[in-house]
Amino acid sequence: MARNRIKYVCSSCGYESLKWIGRCPSCESWNTFTEELIEEKKTGKKSHAGDEQISKLSDHVVETEERVKTNIAEFDRVLGGGLMPGSVVLIGGDPGIGKSTLVMQAASKVDGDVLYVTGEESANQISLRAKRLKVTGDKISIMTETDLDVILGGIKKLEPKVVIVDSIQTTYKPDFDNAPGTVTQIRECTVELMQLAKKTHCAIMIVGHVTKEGMIAGPKILEHVVDTVLQFEGERSYSYRVLRAQKNRFGSTNEIGIFEMHDDGLHEVLNPSEIFLSERDKQTTGSVVTASIEGTRPILLEVQALVTPSSYGNPQRVATGFDYRRLSILLAVLEKRANLRLSIQNVFLNIAGGIRIDEPAVDLAICCAIASNFSDKFARNDTVVIGEVGLGGEVRSVNHIEKRIQEAAKLGFKRVILPTNNIKAIKSKADIEIVGVDNLGNALNKIF
Ligand SMILES: Nc1ncnc2c1ncn2[C@@H]1O[C@H](COP(=O)(O)OP(=O)(O)OP(=O)(O)O)[C@@H](O)[C@H]1O
Ligand SMILES: [Mg+2]
Repeated sequence: MARNRIKYVCSSCGYESLKWIGRCPSCESWNTFTEELIEEKKTGKKSHAGDEQISKLSDHVVETEERVKTNIAEFDRVLGGGLMPGSVVLIGGDPGIGKSTLVMQAASKVDGDVLYVTGEESANQISLRAKRLKVTGDKISIMTETDLDVILGGIKKLEPKVVIVDSIQTTYKPDFDNAPGTVTQIRECTVELMQLAKKTHCAIMIVGHVTKEGMIAGPKILEHVVDTVLQFEGERSYSYRVLRAQKNRFGSTNEIGIFEMHDDGLHEVLNPSEIFLSERDKQTTGSVVTASIEGTRPILLEVQALVTPSSYGNPQRVATGFDYRRLSILLAVLEKRANLRLSIQNVFLNIAGGIRIDEPAVDLAICCAIASNFSDKFARNDTVVIGEVGLGGEVRSVNHIEKRIQEAAKLGFKRVILPTNNIKAIKSKADIEIVGVDNLGNALNKIF
């Protein structure tokens, strides 16, 4: 009998080694190596040399492919207009964030048959959830199975329009001796599901867990294999959930979908600005409203800053919902260009509502919020602040300025502070006062 040999595989990038290593030489993450069996090469396989099929691109005239709509507007937008037939979508997220809830709700609204394969819960548990989510109908077939061969058989037999596999970590291929959830199993199962999706033209949604580092468990290679990678995220203490595309072969990766978790499942948030500003305390220092663009949609958000003297040598800087390094840069700019002595202050920054923003157009609002709290002066609460801040303290123009202004006007704001360079691009008249600024000092004078 062949002797089983052991290899060690990095669960984050798939790097293989014959020895256990503490830190992966490829992706540099720590403690990610797990033990796996080396699969023996199958011999006696028929060679396919000579079967080559080559065709001209012009031979393939395809009408635009009809998307399979999930009929959840927020979900469809993130997907780029619905599920593409024959594609595989990977949905990742922290434990308990609501992945199964999301796919179950999508399953109930899809036009066509859905096969829901679960390796995590029993049929009774699924049915209890369906009852809680008020999901009814005969369109959804349930399969409690973890063996990939049986799952593939089920898909071929039922020929559904959409297949849901919850989760890829529990699915395994019996040909391999490795346990479910190992890198080899996850990779092989995904590749086979992908091949079947392409062949049968069904759309497959795969649920994947997230490791403590925030990556979809399983190798990075998995993200290359599938067509779309969606991340379902949210702060545990908030009921808001954000669906974000990390990769999409059939749509933009800028779009986000916002949901709110209730007892009866996820509700779409169609007016995010109103909700994110609903709990704003207008009489507090360090609070400034900004307009951010998420995908194609403007969202008004409250930036909160708290600046306190540091009693130790090393002041703390904490950013929630914003890039920590970007905050450090903005603090340095405030210190140097606006003469605010922040180097001995603790600075805490929060984007209210548990949402995360990455775009530089919120820089100026962050600077204004910090300056407001530091100097104990109220920032005008009828004003929205927009603009990118450069290292020289200059305020740089931002994109989609009209959309941002319109959203501010729609929500009843009276003034908007924005980069002077953006003013000439404004064509439509909104019922709001426009204040152009070209540097940080200028903006700090106008905000109080
Ligand atoms: N009455 C309820 N019963 C159970 N869960 C509820 C209820 N109301 C709201 N929830 C929410 O549903 C979440 C569980 O959702 P779901 O099972 O879809 O998450 P998941 O991401 O699939 O989790 P897992 O990683 O365990 O598979 C809970 O964390 C909770 O926030
Ligand atoms: Mg689940």
